[in-house]
Amino acid sequence: MKKIIVLTGAGISAESGLKTFRGHDGLWEGYNIYDVATPEAWQRDPELVQRFYNERRKSVMEAQPNAAHLALKKLEEKYEVLIITQNIDDLHERAGSSNVMHLHGQIKYACSSKNPALLYPIEGYEIKMGDLCELGSQLRPHVVWFGEPVPMMTKAIHEMPFADVVILIGSSLAVYPANTLFDYVSSGAKVYIVDPEAPTISLKNELVVLKGKAAEKVPELVEMLLNS
Ligand code: OAD
Repeated sequence: MKKIIVLTGAGISAESGLKTFRGHDGLWEGYNIYDVATPEAWQRDPELVQRFYNERRKSVMEAQPNAAHLALKKLEEKYEVLIITQNIDDLHERAGSSNVMHLHGQIKYACSSKNPALLYPIEGYEIKMGDLCELGSQLRPHVVWFGEPVPMMTKAIHEMPFADVVILIGSSLAVYPANTLFDYVSSGAKVYIVDPEAPTISLKNELVVLKGKAAEKVPELVEMLLNS
């Protein structure tokens, strides 16, 4: 069975109503990264950070997978599929995809601020100040902040050379280290990019760029791959 690795970013969830980060009306237009998405922000003003991610979690809970998420599940009929996502939403899982790796954490989980390996599913949409882990420290969102290590990278790097096909959907590739994953693609792998403003990547691989929105282009690409 051929293996497909799908790298996804915020753009795949845009048509589910979740904001992307950069560009017009992106989340980082309305918020300063250093105020809400760094360990220093958490030290300085944990209430603000908590509120920011509680809002994100509420939006994710109100969102539904779109045609792109659903099409990727269908790809499993013919291929071994691994989705490596920078997204903290759970829309791939809710669309039924069985093999999803989250590089930047998962918004539906809390973790201990003393030991980030201690994870707890969140019932409603809020983590409240005063909610504690079993070690007695404040619970924080299970997301990777700027300046923090990305523990899943080692596993992701290990997987990349095994892909026969790599599909990048809806990421500006602006963020390190996720944007280094293409360095590990095998030279024989075919690469597809789906994005209305596809980022430039320098690759010697066969590359097809499908300019457009994920909910339209991904189902078309999946049909093509299922029939090829
Ligand atoms: P960005 O906001 O940087 O990029 C979103 C990409 O999606 C852009 O290339 C858009 O052109 C594209 N896009 C927009 N609408 C689309 C649609 N309907 N269909 C397909 N593509 C569309 O988001 P990411 O690259 O995911 O990290 O951002 C990477 C990381 O930066 C995030 O995981 C987050 C952020 O800061 C952390 O918070 C650690």
